[in-house]
Amino acid sequence: MNNEKVEIFDTTLRDGEQVPGCKLDTHQKLIIAERLDELGVDVIEAGFPVSSPGDFNSVNEIAKLVKNASVCGLTRAVKKDIEVAAEALKYASKPRIHTGIGTSDSHIKYKFNSSQEEVIKRAKEAVSYAKNFVDDVEFYAEDAGRTANDFLAKVCEEAIKSGATVLNIPDTTGYCLPEEYGAKIKYLKEHVKGIENVTISCHCHNDLGLATANSISGVVNGARQIECTINGVGERAGNTALEEVVMVLRQHPYLNLQTSINTQLLYDTSLMVREKMGMPVQPNKAIVGANAFAHSSGIHQDGVIKNRQTYEIINPEEVGVTESAIILTARSGRAALAYRAKKVGYELTKLQLDIAYQTFLLFADKQKEVIDEDIHKIMKQVSKVSKIAVA
Ligand code: KIV
Ligand code: ZN
Repeated sequence: MNNEKVEIFDTTLRDGEQVPGCKLDTHQKLIIAERLDELGVDVIEAGFPVSSPGDFNSVNEIAKLVKNASVCGLTRAVKKDIEVAAEALKYASKPRIHTGIGTSDSHIKYKFNSSQEEVIKRAKEAVSYAKNFVDDVEFYAEDAGRTANDFLAKVCEEAIKSGATVLNIPDTTGYCLPEEYGAKIKYLKEHVKGIENVTISCHCHNDLGLATANSISGVVNGARQIECTINGVGERAGNTALEEVVMVLRQHPYLNLQTSINTQLLYDTSLMVREKMGMPVQPNKAIVGANAFAHSSGIHQDGVIKNRQTYEIINPEEVGVTESAIILTARSGRAALAYRAKKVGYELTKLQLDIAYQTFLLFADKQKEVIDEDIHKIMKQVSKVSKIAVA
């Protein structure tokens, strides 16, 4: 069976940048946009042009710079927003306008004090209006995760009739369970006329830690675009992490779904976004965290030294990490100490390793981690009783 493509829509520069403290200037955005293009994303959501002159300028400059990806600008279902986005995107070789409106009861009642009929009317008008400027119009049904499926289907059908090319089904509040989100996508596929002619997109937030699982459930059930950010940055608990969904699809080839991401750039791109946004990544973050390929317990280290696959499902080189790390702690065993000693130049006999290990434990019990400098000190002590060979 041929692999089907899942498009990667990166919104680091829009949904990701909305986070307090993560604001980027145009120059920083251009550097990231260029890297995202190189990474192989299909769409770059560059900003929300009507929101500020600075954001307009960023979208405009990114539109001029990006060579391969579509460049997208967000709007509300408001004519002025759409006109401004079209203007900002005018130099893009593949422009996309992303317009939409809240569809859940809560949004209709509390945000708009409106009705379902009025929301459908505004959705249709927004998509039709955007079509005057660009061919590629993505419609989002904000809070689709908490919108009743029958009403959501009606809105989506009208958006398609009005010319939408992509239907975005956001789980804006990160509420859905994977099964529920997948069932929503399946329901839309089965109940919306014309849906076979458009791309369904997953846009999942991580409030319950389910953004990646929900996006994967979405594509398993027929969506063909995932909206995500580098390192999962985004409002509150963040958006779906790009590196996670890309590697899930890669590690599970039987799903027959692939992306065009150059995975070897993932780690470096993660570092770039951390640095530019001033937003650190937790050490245990999947794929790009400092500990993602680090092993510290004796049992695991022994396994990894014998064969990496015993405790690693991804070859670190595939995501641009040079090698797995063997971290020396009080939980490490002799195999790990011998391995690290060899790396810094010492070839130990069994007896020397036994002596070295006892000294190592004294160091390890006093500090969180034993580093190369400590290994040299340990070897100095061992060499007082036995001459060590150079590795
Ligand atoms: O989370 C969301 O619903 C959004 C939309 C504006 C696409 O970011
Ligand atoms: Zn969002």
